[in-house]
Amino acid sequence: MSNFKIDDKKINKYNKQITIDGDKSISIRWVLFASIAEGISTAENLLLSEDVLAAIKSIKKLGIRIKFINKKCKIYGRGINGYKYKKNLTIDAKNSGTFGRLILGLLTNTDKEINLIGDKSLSKRDFKRVAEPLSKFGAKLKLKSDKNLPLKIIGSNKLKSIKYFENRGSAQCKSSVILGGMRANGTTVIKAKKSRNHTELICKYLNLPISIKKNKNFDEIKIRKVKKVKPLNYSIPGDISSSAFFIVLTALNQNSKLLIKNVNINPTRIGVITVLKKMGVKISFKNKKIFQGEENADIEVKGSKSFKSINCPSNLNSSTIDEFLIIFLIAAKAKGISYFKDLSELNQKESPRLNWGSKILNLMGVKTKLTESSIKIYGNPDLKINKKIEIKNYLKDHRIFMTSVVAALSFGGKWNIHDKESINTSFPNFLKIIEYLKR
Ligand code: S3P
Repeated sequence: MSNFKIDDKKINKYNKQITIDGDKSISIRWVLFASIAEGISTAENLLLSEDVLAAIKSIKKLGIRIKFINKKCKIYGRGINGYKYKKNLTIDAKNSGTFGRLILGLLTNTDKEINLIGDKSLSKRDFKRVAEPLSKFGAKLKLKSDKNLPLKIIGSNKLKSIKYFENRGSAQCKSSVILGGMRANGTTVIKAKKSRNHTELICKYLNLPISIKKNKNFDEIKIRKVKKVKPLNYSIPGDISSSAFFIVLTALNQNSKLLIKNVNINPTRIGVITVLKKMGVKISFKNKKIFQGEENADIEVKGSKSFKSINCPSNLNSSTIDEFLIIFLIAAKAKGISYFKDLSELNQKESPRLNWGSKILNLMGVKTKLTESSIKIYGNPDLKINKKIEIKNYLKDHRIFMTSVVAALSFGGKWNIHDKESINTSFPNFLKIIEYLKR
């Protein structure tokens, strides 16, 4: 792992257009659905990051063939029951909570014990939240210290449907149970707090036996046993979570303008746009279209001189969950005190991100008040950094690295940001796009 150093080099004004790597959540789901489809599925613009490659390697271990032809990925699915469960199989989810949690739903019918492992960061994260509901189907899951990876799963061929209440707003938990429900006899009923709905949209797109009733704060999802999944030819749109770094970089760069082409703007993902607009960031969607059930658009953002603080409504938390760190940089420059609350889930990510957000801001000279689930950020409209800042030992959390780079380019200072390769988790082209904007 190498360090990335930025020496007082703020970025110049620009007016440019970029494309962003494919959406991580959709890429991982495509790999999973393609692996249980009957026949060949093809994806264009699949995100080739470490999280997605962990998913690809793992389904290969389950006997599924994969080929890359130019920029297209082909997966040769062997049908809903086509996985080959070899003896002593270990699946390595590496850093990916999404893959690690979702694959467990599909492994509920394994007749051989399978080990699930992950890297240092993933091994600290809570897997009880999926092991508990999945064991109700009739699979056996054994966790280290009752909570963490490594985990052992042995499934059953007599899975029974369950009723499940998902109240964290976690799409990973909801999706894992949907995938388990696809293997169980009967109808699984899920009452889920609103969260990203890519899994449901793919199920609908594939005409799987799913129904969704939308209520104000919760969705009621019913899923029946799936007999056949047809191949899924897909073109993956750009990732809004990756785009957010460039939205904020541009917003903080007065008189700049950026057009980000073809980004997924699924309403369950764009809390960041709502929050930033409330704070005075100039953002608009162009060219909106629906493709494969997902809404996509070009995003235009313009740089501004000043920003407003926000008392962020917690009903936006789930649709903004991966973007808070970068939003905190706008709060750092806003006039007044911003308040973000009910965010204990943010400390459950690749690193304890709420704590890290506060730590980075403090290093930048911005005052914060932190609790276990909230942060107050005392904005400074004249914020400029003139000192040395070192960012290290952050569990290689990709979003911490990228947030630090945006902070360095926007506010100045001499930054030494460790573990540059962490971007490969979700956004391998991040630094190349930064270079392009600096040119
Ligand atoms: C994801 C769901 C979210 C998000 C993660 C991706 C997904 O996690 O933070 O980056 O693809 O389902 P939770 O479900 O834990 O909130």
